[in-house]
Amino acid sequence: MCGIVGYVGSKDALPIVLAGLKRLEYRGYDSYGFCVLNGKPFLFKQIGKISENSDNFDHVKGNVAISHTRWATTGEVTKENAHPHSDCKEEIFVVHNGIVENYKELKNNLIGEGHVFKSETDTEVIAHLIEKYFSGNLEEAVKKALKEIRGTYGLAVISTGDPEKIVVARMSSPLIIGVGVDEFLVASDPSAIITHTRQIINLDDGEIAVLKKAGFSIFKEEKESQKQIETIDWDIEQAEKGGYDHFMLKEIMEEPNTIEDAIRGRLILEDGNVKLGGLFQVEEKLRGINNLLLIGCGTAHYACAVGEYMLEDYASIAGETDIGSEFRYRKPIVNKNTAAIFVSQSGETADTLAAMREMKEKGILTLGITNVVGSSQARETDAGVYTRSGPEIAVASTKAFIGQLATLAMLTVYLGRQREMSVVTGKRIVSELVNLPNLAREILGHREEIKNIAEKYKKYRDFWFIGRKYNYPVALEGALKLKEVSYVHAEGTAGGELKHGPLALIDENCPTIAICPSDSVYEKMIANIEEVKARKGKVIALATEGNEEIKNIADDVIYIPKTLEMLTPLLSAIPLHLFAYYMAAVLGRNIDKPKNLAKSVTVE
Ligand code: M6R
Repeated sequence: MCGIVGYVGSKDALPIVLAGLKRLEYRGYDSYGFCVLNGKPFLFKQIGKISENSDNFDHVKGNVAISHTRWATTGEVTKENAHPHSDCKEEIFVVHNGIVENYKELKNNLIGEGHVFKSETDTEVIAHLIEKYFSGNLEEAVKKALKEIRGTYGLAVISTGDPEKIVVARMSSPLIIGVGVDEFLVASDPSAIITHTRQIINLDDGEIAVLKKAGFSIFKEEKESQKQIETIDWDIEQAEKGGYDHFMLKEIMEEPNTIEDAIRGRLILEDGNVKLGGLFQVEEKLRGINNLLLIGCGTAHYACAVGEYMLEDYASIAGETDIGSEFRYRKPIVNKNTAAIFVSQSGETADTLAAMREMKEKGILTLGITNVVGSSQARETDAGVYTRSGPEIAVASTKAFIGQLATLAMLTVYLGRQREMSVVTGKRIVSELVNLPNLAREILGHREEIKNIAEKYKKYRDFWFIGRKYNYPVALEGALKLKEVSYVHAEGTAGGELKHGPLALIDENCPTIAICPSDSVYEKMIANIEEVKARKGKVIALATEGNEEIKNIADDVIYIPKTLEMLTPLLSAIPLHLFAYYMAAVLGRNIDKPKNLAKSVTVE
């Protein structure tokens, strides 16, 4: 997720786009850049946050500008990789939000045709493709270039060869046009332009727009689109949050997209396999691994625990999970067939990094599953996979967890296919991964029901979460999320452990949330629910759609769609994230910044 702002009109463009860019920083903040046209282009790129820039740009004049704040996905955080990207002659400039799936293939072809690349990004191929097709009319060149691109984009393009306009295009990455008097803006979301104009047009997928001082036109497949101008009645803060009250809810609502972004361009459906570019260089080493340590903290640790089940079930690899703060002081038994994988949203968690450095010291192959490109973990591990979840602003980790699970599922297929996993099994998993985003959307569609349940249970001060097998770590995640944001005491336990102690605390004052999809441990979970009911405990069951019998035992039921057992955590975590959010909301907590907690724990 990155932020784009552009302006064309009769005013000085740069102050307008930079003011907007600062408001888009929540979408990405590892580097930024802009290009202003005034005869010659003025191109500027920098690492860091635009809000921390102290350069004076008063001398940069021009009525056409595009700008970008980056959240790296392809290519490390460097000045060269910051946007805008340009063609060989530095006449065409592109800012882009999204992923060009086939960029490697396109880049090789363009290099073969003599194009010279300056960055490692996927975006730069767009600039060179436009250059290839440019013969005086920018929109025509953009149209031709986009025909060759597979993937997602929200983009804005300017050129010294056709200088009075900005050409913008959208495919699965949001983009809006701001409509003023003799001036137009383009932005990733309204917060960037709301102080300038409240009149906006939402671009739809496949649409290309040409913005000039004198007016705009929007096309889709050569036909002009008639679009409605809408008036925004949100304030800036709401606009940043996509209209939601909190970043946490916005990020939960993004969970289906998180799965899509994680799997985009990585699944090989016909072979029942996945391709993970970041593991390419260690592919042969990984064939010899039979023991995988999975290390993370907090929510990332629970993702590791789900990964352990996945790897054992499908990749014939012994997994061993631990938390960073414990693992770093242990004396693990490792050998040359051991690898260690570190899971972290930020890639900066001190305990996880210390554990990783300890393993490096021992000569163990280290891998990373990280969201933040160029983070310490990403740089220091031998190889790894980015989750591509986009910036997570709320302290409570939600969409990053889902991205980690999707990545671990792909890793399982990758390692499994290196070993005994059949093509049929591989196909079943990857095709279900394709279905998952829509199944996740179905759950979010029922969020009002979960809100009502939170309202009903708001008076309780203790909750128990239970699950078995794949959903045992999800029970831990549900409990962590609830205590973290609502300050309500919650504990997670394996269903089978209830009778070994926790049952002593179960009574009418301590409700249990039981994760019991119709899977291999369903009957056992029902037995656990009965144990709770026998102690007068209330039960909220998370069950598979179509399971009517559960209504006879549980007090309330939240349904999730049917999926493969190994993928259920990607769905069952969603209602638990929502439940924690709504409990916190109804209790009036500081949801995005809970007390005593930090987003990234960089101390021991
Ligand atoms: O950045 P990381 O994924 O390494 O962070 C690990 C934990 O600090 C983090 O998941 C924490 O538990 C969350 N606040 C939970 O919502």
